[in-house]
Amino acid sequence: MRDKAAPEMGMHPFLRHPVFAWLGIRPVLGQHTASEHDALRKWATGRSRLVEIGVAEGASAVALREVMSPDGTLWLIDPFHLSRVRAINATRRAAHRAVRGCRNGRVIWLEEFSSNAAKGWSGQIDFLFIDGDHSETGVRQDWDEWHQYVVPGGVVAFHDAATFPGGWTQENWGPVKLVDQLFRSRPLPGWEIVQQVDSLVVVQRFLAGVVS
Ligand SMILES: C[S@@+](CC[C@H](N)C(=O)[O-])C[C@H]1O[C@@H](n2cnc3c(N)ncnc32)[C@H](O)[C@@H]1O
Repeated sequence: MRDKAAPEMGMHPFLRHPVFAWLGIRPVLGQHTASEHDALRKWATGRSRLVEIGVAEGASAVALREVMSPDGTLWLIDPFHLSRVRAINATRRAAHRAVRGCRNGRVIWLEEFSSNAAKGWSGQIDFLFIDGDHSETGVRQDWDEWHQYVVPGGVVAFHDAATFPGGWTQENWGPVKLVDQLFRSRPLPGWEIVQQVDSLVVVQRFLAGVVS
């Protein structure tokens, strides 16, 4: 995680390589703050059909798995294409190791780009975390291809979608621009922002017949 509660504080830069998480020498490094972590856990609690786009070392995936319904399913989508040594792919191995460390619910890995995964998708989703391709077109594509599956009362969390004091995000980042266009410049019918913490923005689909 990126803030003071983060395990990497004081960590030697050498140890940041994902191979050390895969080997269990250090914990997996999340790419979100402790407050964002808490918000993800809050909105994922008790959910039964969860999708995460962008897993990296799996810190957020573990958080979701820990709090989801024991009868639920968590789909984890990431092609793990950024590894420099593809045959080893330490990030992928670290993520699998971390996610295996929690036995709650069921996990299905889709190791492909989110757009490919969307092509074969048909079921409902009650929690969607968009944290994959952060380009404006990439995050727009994730929204366009996935939000139709989110049930009334379900939520979509966007990471890196807001600027905040002392934060790393900029006004011109893809997720910030998309959330501006979809939700901040005017209300999107059927949806509302229900929480914003650091760079995380959570939007919820209205329950049928309920308009706030
Ligand atoms: C910011 S990291 C995810 C961080 C993780 N959610 C966390 O909080 O610890 C982004 C990840 O998205 C993945 N990614 C990039 N483009 C993607 C795409 N089109 N579909 C799915 N995953 C993608 C990358 O491989 C990378 O692992």
